[in-house]
Amino acid sequence: MGSSAPARAAGGRRDPGENPAVGRLRELFTGDAADGWEKSWEFGVTPWDLGKPTPVIEHLVRSGTLPKGRALVPGCGMGYDVVALASPERFVVGLDISDLAVKKAKQWSSSLPNADYFTFLAEDFFKWIPSEQFDLIFDYTFFCALDPSLRVAWGETVNRLLKPDGELLALIYLISDQEGGPPYNNTVADYQKVLEPLGLKAILMEDNELAIKPRKGCEKIGRWKRYAHQSSL
Ligand SMILES: C[S@@+](CC[C@H](N)C(=O)[O-])C[C@H]1O[C@@H](n2cnc3c(N)ncnc32)[C@H](O)[C@@H]1O
Repeated sequence: MGSSAPARAAGGRRDPGENPAVGRLRELFTGDAADGWEKSWEFGVTPWDLGKPTPVIEHLVRSGTLPKGRALVPGCGMGYDVVALASPERFVVGLDISDLAVKKAKQWSSSLPNADYFTFLAEDFFKWIPSEQFDLIFDYTFFCALDPSLRVAWGETVNRLLKPDGELLALIYLISDQEGGPPYNNTVADYQKVLEPLGLKAILMEDNELAIKPRKGCEKIGRWKRYAHQSSL
């Protein structure tokens, strides 16, 4: 989070807390988190917002290597990545707990040529029950935005919402050695800790070479699938 005002913490990682906009964001989180997110949208304190899809998503879409079918982007914000992923082969649901975020996402995107292939819903990721599971879930600055006490539930929800052969794609925004959040400290190990016990195995973990400049060197691409079940008979 924080696409401007780079500041490095110990270990070469970014300290988002040094970005004044992130400081303002944190001041909005005095009680209920859902209320904090609604206020951030209301006051326009959205330091994570790139104003465009993240470049690696456009690259992966062009490469044709992402699962087709149904995709979910939880905590989608303005939904640029939702729109970038949507096509006749891939229907995308963008989910955000903030009514205002969803309203804004719909406003800018509803007359785009691919508008039939995505939708935005104002729902809590942890409580929402869709009619069908997903072939792909894409997480970008959602996991790190959640209070760490929700991480196990995040993993369980991803697991519940993915089809048996579905894939989780996450851009991991590495943050360490700083206090509080959002965004909270997070490492690759934090994801592994909640995903591995559920049988989700990392099939790819590499630096995101296409990260935007202020996040270069602080972002990994992770892709997870379920362990293939092989009969020993
Ligand atoms: C840091 S922003 C990231 C937005 C977007 N992924 C991006 O990269 O621009 C996190 C978003 O998650 C949303 N959010 C937080 N808790 C949520 C929940 N429980 N369910 C759905 N959305 C949630 C917030 O409203 C906010 O828009």
